[in-house]
Amino acid sequence: MEKIDYSKRSFAYYPTNAIVIAKYENGAWGKPEISSDFMLSVHCFAGAFHYAPECFEGLKVYRGADNKVRMFRPDENAKRMISSATYLDMGYPDEEMFIEMCKMCVRANWEFIPPYESGASLYLRPVLFGMNPQLGIRSAKDVTFIVMSSPVGTYSGAKALMPGTAVLSRNYDRAATYGSGYYKLGANYAQSLHAYNIARKQGYRELLFLDTATHTHIEEFGSSNFFGIKGNSYITPDSDSVLPSITNKSLRHVAADMGLTVEMRKVYVEELAEMDEVNACGTAVVITPICKIDDKPTLESTEITKCYHIGDPENCGPISRKLYDAIVGMQKGLLPDKYGWCMILEEK
Ligand code: PLP
Ligand code: COI
Repeated sequence: MEKIDYSKRSFAYYPTNAIVIAKYENGAWGKPEISSDFMLSVHCFAGAFHYAPECFEGLKVYRGADNKVRMFRPDENAKRMISSATYLDMGYPDEEMFIEMCKMCVRANWEFIPPYESGASLYLRPVLFGMNPQLGIRSAKDVTFIVMSSPVGTYSGAKALMPGTAVLSRNYDRAATYGSGYYKLGANYAQSLHAYNIARKQGYRELLFLDTATHTHIEEFGSSNFFGIKGNSYITPDSDSVLPSITNKSLRHVAADMGLTVEMRKVYVEELAEMDEVNACGTAVVITPICKIDDKPTLESTEITKCYHIGDPENCGPISRKLYDAIVGMQKGLLPDKYGWCMILEEK
């Protein structure tokens, strides 16, 4: 097998040994199977292709400095998938089945868990989609659940904690006020693809979405949640149309324990001018500092109405760095897992 240079990996697909697949048909789950065949045979009338009864998750598995393998808070991902599938009114794996299939996937791809020194990790992507043939707009009756994996490096491909830029999305919305942003549905991401393409062509790393009703307050990045540091406060938006990030939830806990004041509330765009540090946070992006955010009349426009410079363009802010060290320290066995968030996995 080709030797992989994990230190050069970014967040892109890399083939592994196997996936784990289970089917829910006629109201009952079949046995999860490990398969080395990554091609699926799915009916072309399956709802997933037409009305998007589909949701997914993302979680990471880390090889620690102590060579132990840790999976981070899989119970939280299981709960969120149940919440997404419940929103779509379709079948779902219970927490035990979700975690067991994640473990099976890790064991089947054990040699793809990157070494500690590389800074990379094994990303798990659980996916649940409607597979029964249908034509009318209905929730899926039968579903397929798959856990797949890929070794990944940083989301942007840049060095960890290297600040990047973002632009506000004023003329493309991601998730409506009473829409599905709170759930991890593929459909939410479809709404961001075109806007992302425009932003990336202009060199922006991230796209920051606003509330769809008033476009006055910050929701989240297309890939991750938003948090800012102002003085001694950790500030993050409170919104029913933002994905409840497990990373953000964990960071709020760590921040409060560090003595920061945690504010989960409406965050107005103008507040960016007063922020000392701003970051994207999530499983894929971990903590990614954002050092500049442009506000433009439209994404296509060349005019910049306002440019918010935040912190040092070369370095992560000091408080965000402390938060990063605390959370990554637990994930990689450098610090005690004082909240019991890491599940230690064995090869067999
Ligand atoms: N928001 C969006 C839109 C995301 O895609 C993600 C990634 O999963 C997050 C937030 C962060 O969530 P988590 O920390 O659970 O990965
Ligand atoms: C994750 O962080 O796990 C996500 O699903 C975000 C996506 C941009 C890869």
